[in-house]
Amino acid sequence: MSSYSDHIATVQARFDAALEATGFDSVLVYAGQPRVAFLDDNPAPYKVNPLFKYWLPVTQSPKSAVFYQPGQKPVVFLFQARDFWHAQAEIPTEEWQQHVELIVVDDVDKIAKHLGDKLHTTAFIGEDFAEPVASWPVQSRNPQPLLDHLHYHRAIKTTWEIENLRYANELATKAHNAARDAFFAGASELEIHHAYLAAINFRECEVPYNSIVALNEHGAILHYDIYDHKAPAEARSFLIDAGATYRGYCADITRTYTKQKGFFADLIEAVDAAQQDLLREIKPGVEYYQLHVSQHLKIAQVLSDFGFVKGTAEEIYDKGYTSAFFPHGLGHFIGLQVHDVGGHLRNDRGDSYPRDERHPFLRLLRPIEEGQVFTIEPGLYVVDQLLEDHADSRDINWDRVAELRPYGGVRIEDSIVVGANGNNENLTRDAFAKLG
Ligand code: GLY
Ligand code: MN
Ligand code: MN
Repeated sequence: MSSYSDHIATVQARFDAALEATGFDSVLVYAGQPRVAFLDDNPAPYKVNPLFKYWLPVTQSPKSAVFYQPGQKPVVFLFQARDFWHAQAEIPTEEWQQHVELIVVDDVDKIAKHLGDKLHTTAFIGEDFAEPVASWPVQSRNPQPLLDHLHYHRAIKTTWEIENLRYANELATKAHNAARDAFFAGASELEIHHAYLAAINFRECEVPYNSIVALNEHGAILHYDIYDHKAPAEARSFLIDAGATYRGYCADITRTYTKQKGFFADLIEAVDAAQQDLLREIKPGVEYYQLHVSQHLKIAQVLSDFGFVKGTAEEIYDKGYTSAFFPHGLGHFIGLQVHDVGGHLRNDRGDSYPRDERHPFLRLLRPIEEGQVFTIEPGLYVVDQLLEDHADSRDINWDRVAELRPYGGVRIEDSIVVGANGNNENLTRDAFAKLG
């Protein structure tokens, strides 16, 4: 069996269990359609429903749908408009077509006509802001128990999904190297962004999230995505958080560079070492929350070693300083979505872990299991808004903080596939290594 046939069998089994547990006869997963801008007729880039691309690697066929009834072959309604305005996305002959009944439609209404009475007993999953979909007489629209069940089990990736994630990382690392070279050649943020896209022949709407391409102080802005068009007089540091997609699966990678030897180069190395130390702690049974705390303690040690904050790692963590320098979560599931779903679910019945007060931005609270894929992305930045809370602190060496401010900060981010007994795969470092 190929890895895709294993995958679709797993998806089918997961839908069987989810439908059984939530009492629905069938499911209709609508791929979605582009939204147009307010008072305008220009569409925004189309993003397919993740639960549609879970079934098949078709990401550019809006208005399509998968209908699935346990015990039957999935039916794919592939929408191809008979219209002289638009080009149709090419659908190459691929393996997925052997596993489904394929019906090409040129009108969304034909989906409903084809399903007839079955529409009344189906659970609809998708966006339904437009007609005729908005008026389809389905049994239920996006029922939460069904979504929770599916989202919970999506955390364990199939071999085919891991192959796609591996290749997405190979694309993204190639682009990362091009961006790094552009930085060393003195390019502006926008020019670096263009170098990134050109290296893998991507349109901007094909990357999985707005790339963060940040020179100097901009590295401290966690979601920096308005690029300067002109290069700064002095480009001291470069933080890039950018990904790629392959067959609908996402890469999410961060690296930090500097042109200068010395303190900031040493800091990049220290955060990188702290991240790699943490990678060794990943194994089934460990709570991801524990990893997050452990990474805080390692960042606390870096804060101490570099003289940013006085005290032992435990003291620095206990007093809350690490949350000012490393304010975001350690990472998140990754797969069909960059921030893949289900990180807060305790079980497939939809019970969830409460958000942690100390670490409210942590997206992943589940215990680690073999087959999960998640990011590990520690950082250390000068975020003045957060440091204000400690303005009176004598533990913080403000001169040292002022030295770091012009560099923004450091983040290092890899994606990890959890193996048995800590025998994990680092998709990102392996991909960089393959490039040589
Ligand atoms: N690039 C988004 C993230 O790292 O979560
Ligand atoms: Mn991430
Ligand atoms: Mn990222």
